[in-house]
Amino acid sequence: MNLAVEYNCGGIDWEELACVIEAAGLAPHPPETFRKAFENSFAVVFLRDGQRLIGCARALSDAVVQSALYDVALLPEYQGRGLGRTLLEEMLRQLPDGNTILYASPGKEPFYERFGFGRLKTGMGKFSDPERVRQRGMLE
Ligand SMILES: CC(C)(COP(=O)(O)OP(=O)(O)OC[C@H]1O[C@@H](n2cnc3c(N)ncnc32)[C@H](O)[C@@H]1OP(=O)(O)O)[C@@H](O)C(=O)NCCC(=O)NCCS
Repeated sequence: MNLAVEYNCGGIDWEELACVIEAAGLAPHPPETFRKAFENSFAVVFLRDGQRLIGCARALSDAVVQSALYDVALLPEYQGRGLGRTLLEEMLRQLPDGNTILYASPGKEPFYERFGFGRLKTGMGKFSDPERVRQRGMLE
């Protein structure tokens, strides 16, 4: 593997990124929606194997105290090889020393616990498609 890490959106093929996110099982959107979402984010990380995009993550942040992670995804064939750790460490390094939240996919909570995340007791979310979120087991 020829791993490369990128921290800006300059070289991203948004169709390829949409495929990575869909293959990882996260919420799909049109490539143009992902382009806007990533370009409007506070911090982004992309992983490549050679030229191939294999992973991504993005964060919103006020740059002082509060941040939120989204679209943490690796192609399935690259999962379980330590690259999720690289992705998350490279993302957290760019965020302020404050509070960081995320919605964990069911079963992924132990992955985040390794990086100091805890399970929220009073987390609330308002979703554009609550039924989808409910079906994924993330909403009561
Ligand atoms: C979440 C994701 C990025 C993690 O990447 P990964 O490559 O599988 O994780 P790594 O191999 O780097 O694992 C890092 C550590 O977390 C642990 N870990 C990873 N997934 C785990 C899980 N589901 N349960 C328990 N531990 C887990 C690993 O054992 C490893 O532990 P170690 O450092 O002590 O050896 C990846 O699985 C993925 O893209 N999943 C599909 C999309 C998704 O669910 N994203 C999260 C949305 S919230």
